[in-house]
Amino acid sequence: MSEAPKPGSYAQTDPTIVASYPTTLPSATPVSRKKPTLASFSLEGKTAVITGGARGLGYVMTQALVESGADVAIVDLNGDEAAKAASRLLEQWKSENTDADKLPVITSHKADVSNAADVDRVFAEILAAHNNHVDTLVTSAGLCENFPAEQYPPDRLQYIMSVNVNGTYYFAAALAKHLIAVKKPGSMVFIGSMSGAIVNIPQPQAPYNASKAAVRHLASSFAVEWAQYGIRVNCISPGYMLTDLTKRILEERPELGEKWRSLTPVGRMGDPKDLMGAVVYLSSDAAGFVTGAELRVDGGYTVT
Ligand SMILES: NC(=O)c1ccc[n+]([C@@H]2O[C@H](COP(=O)([O-])OP(=O)(O)OC[C@H]3O[C@@H](n4cnc5c(N)ncnc54)[C@H](O)[C@@H]3O)[C@@H](O)[C@H]2O)c1
Repeated sequence: MSEAPKPGSYAQTDPTIVASYPTTLPSATPVSRKKPTLASFSLEGKTAVITGGARGLGYVMTQALVESGADVAIVDLNGDEAAKAASRLLEQWKSENTDADKLPVITSHKADVSNAADVDRVFAEILAAHNNHVDTLVTSAGLCENFPAEQYPPDRLQYIMSVNVNGTYYFAAALAKHLIAVKKPGSMVFIGSMSGAIVNIPQPQAPYNASKAAVRHLASSFAVEWAQYGIRVNCISPGYMLTDLTKRILEERPELGEKWRSLTPVGRMGDPKDLMGAVVYLSSDAAGFVTGAELRVDGGYTVT
């Protein structure tokens, strides 16, 4: 009897897969390319707000938006970290680019996404800082906590829902109101989670899972309602990614890391950089006919 395949090694352990492909490829005529990518993937001329952009997935996705030509406004509960993130990104851009005309505008803003009044206040602040021009939103502010469902503290339940669900809602509504008023199209990318579609094991996190299912369905609902205004709304659902959020959990329960990797077909946790292409694509004109979609970036976790 053959050994069970290890995660991440399916193609190598199944000889029928290898045998069904030709061993030599037909020679292709080399094509010279001036541009490394399609122009429609460029975010030049766009201004993006990223909630939770001070660190983790939000920070790396902000980096991707800046590298693709967008101006950005980083919003975070931790105002100092947001300010540091903004200056780090600007320094990085300067070290990699010489074209001063294209220097991006990168601003940072402190706000609590779970507070509707604070969201309205900070959205006005962002518009003022960006010449009344904002057309892109990425909502990465969020949290996850583990308690057995029957013991979940009611105040924590209320808080996780208000950050993950209401926070996404408030920012989306603020941008939609603005875009409808100025009659401009726009794009929103909500950061959901594969937990919105499956139930993670072994850690108990029912409210988080429910909050991410809500985020995914908010994206679909807004996509339908706002399509008439040229506003696209999509959702990225990451699998297990290595960030401060998950590092904290793994410090307390290191055995979880092995379990998570073993349940992920590619055999590893995601690197935040694995989200860069996905967020740029959905924010860009290349995704002009894509709305209400969910893009799972989970190493195959949810298809097993
Ligand atoms: N890390 C993962 O494995 C993973 C997997 C799937 C989905 N996600 C989702 O991705 C998003 C980012 O996760 P992360 O791992 O980068 O987390 P993180 O904790 O590293 O970063 C979250 C950021 O959001 C900010 N934030 C938290 N509450 C806020 C509030 N009320 N108002 C404004 N800002 C607030 C934090 O200050 C922090 O900078 C979350 O929505 C999370 O649920 C993460």
